[in-house]
Amino acid sequence: MLNLFSPEMLRNPYPMYEAVRSAQPVMYVEPLQLWSVFRYDDVKMVLSDHARFSSGPGGPPAAAGGPPNGDGFSLVTTDPPRHTDLRSLVNRAFTPKAVAALEPRIEQITHELLDQVSGTGQIDLVHDFTYPLPVIVIAELLGVPSNDRDRFKEWSDEVVASADAVIGGSHDKGKQANDEMNEYFRGIIAERRKAPREDLISSLIAVEEGAFRLSETDILSFCRLLLVAGNETTTNLIGNAVLSLLENPGELEKLRSNPDMLASTIEEVLRFRSPIQAMFRTAKEDVELRGQVIPKGSKVIAWIGSANRDEAKFADPARFDIARDPNPHIAFGHGIHFCLGAPLARLEAKVALTAILDRLPELRRENDEPLEPARGFIVHGVKSLPLRFNPT
Ligand code: HEM
Repeated sequence: MLNLFSPEMLRNPYPMYEAVRSAQPVMYVEPLQLWSVFRYDDVKMVLSDHARFSSGPGGPPAAAGGPPNGDGFSLVTTDPPRHTDLRSLVNRAFTPKAVAALEPRIEQITHELLDQVSGTGQIDLVHDFTYPLPVIVIAELLGVPSNDRDRFKEWSDEVVASADAVIGGSHDKGKQANDEMNEYFRGIIAERRKAPREDLISSLIAVEEGAFRLSETDILSFCRLLLVAGNETTTNLIGNAVLSLLENPGELEKLRSNPDMLASTIEEVLRFRSPIQAMFRTAKEDVELRGQVIPKGSKVIAWIGSANRDEAKFADPARFDIARDPNPHIAFGHGIHFCLGAPLARLEAKVALTAILDRLPELRRENDEPLEPARGFIVHGVKSLPLRFNPT
């Protein structure tokens, strides 16, 4: 029986994935009334076939980034044609150039965070580094003034927690944080309308002047989506990278002697320990898959974490191989909803890992205790990662 919430499953879902990929790759999970697909080809198809599988709201997708209160649009929970319009507007503001321009700031923030621990010889990588870094980066990208950053971080935590609570029920603190954050951003939007700056909110307002427009509600929802979609995911990418390298000292050695393998290392971490394990869809019609019929209206979970370990697609899938080539993982999804923040996540991981390997010599686990998994079955990582190194 598939228990998505068992502690073993959260810590290490891979043996279960392997078993169901061969025994029951398309499965109805009765207690949750959800269909699950586990094989690479099926997961890719469900994620990208928007004619048959809707991303529309009305269920668990909020836990993966939708609006906690169902208000306003969220890019990730719309289908074409609305998604096409929204995505093209947002693409115009969230350009590769805008992301690349962040590199020096990401480096600076990274070093500031490491400065605080480098003399001590110990770090909780999650608490001290991987968790604050993406929140600070998003705050700067949006143009939140630095003296408001603490408030922003509190709201961000609440919004992420409330998105998670959608599965289990309501979350009043999340609603309050949402209201406060909306009010705060309305103020920033009004200021930027009067005096635009070089930030994402100013760009989103500017695209509003074009053929299509983003309403204020659209911009607010997008800001919230960035918080949920962009924070814990990147946190876990960096944490999962360090963990995978420490567990595979041969690969760590290979990377240290070939720093140009960093990009392929990051891709392998995305495959091997995908920060987002699953995304949701709703069947728009009866869909026959591997001899079963997924009835119209069913909720479907596409298990990205399983797809990326599918032996039919990847040779020796349980091996962490930083030289893997090709590596057609689908950790950022596939098709029209392909992760908007992928270039930013890759950039943050590159900067962070370069600095961690450089500045924390002889990095090692503090002890061999099992690590507590991050919350929920969608987000894959650890809550805390205590490490030691030689102080500098
Ligand atoms: C969409 C994963 C980082 C913003 C997605 C999707 C996945 C994903 C799987 C597809 C959702 C679907 O098909 O329904 C990840 C992972 C990340 C990451 C693994 C880090 C390692 C980020 C960052 C941002 C971001 C840093 C922004 C700053 C978004 C947005 C969407 C999205 C806006 C919705 C795109 C759309 O619906 O058109 N992400 N993400 N993500 N991601 Fe990411």
